[in-house]
Amino acid sequence: MTLRLGCALILAVAVVSCTSAPPRAIGKPVAIEAPLGLPPVPVPPENPPTVESIALGKKLFFDARLSADGSVSCASCHDPKQSFTDGMSTAKGIRNQFGKRNAPTV
Ligand code: HEC
Repeated sequence: MTLRLGCALILAVAVVSCTSAPPRAIGKPVAIEAPLGLPPVPVPPENPPTVESIALGKKLFFDARLSADGSVSCASCHDPKQSFTDGMSTAKGIRNQFGKRNAPTV
């Protein structure tokens, strides 16, 4: 019974999500200044960055739970202390596996 109710709720949310209007900014939009000499930062008008979305993005960037075994976050390879790289010739992922590409700055 509870499972059926849960499934119905998930389905209802999915249907509403698929049929509703495009996403709206949640929170207070933030203007992002481009560094001197660079063109303006492109921003989708219907989904501008906000204080809240920036805070969420920062949280997710450092969250190792996004990796299959909870050991690696974006910051593992794009470490802010190393100009958002990992300082290695090729990137190291979960279970100490090395890829074939260098982690560029982001
Ligand atoms: C295991 C290491 C690793 C992790 C973890 C990782 N990346 Fe990367 N990232 C790379 C590598 C390697 C490349 C280059 C891929 C290529 O050359 O095809 C890259 C490329 C990128 C680029 C493109 C940069 C450019 O200038 O083109 C962005 C943006 C990026 N990563 C963001 C992220 C985000 C966001 C996360 C977390 C959700 C993340 N990365 C997690 C290794 C990693």
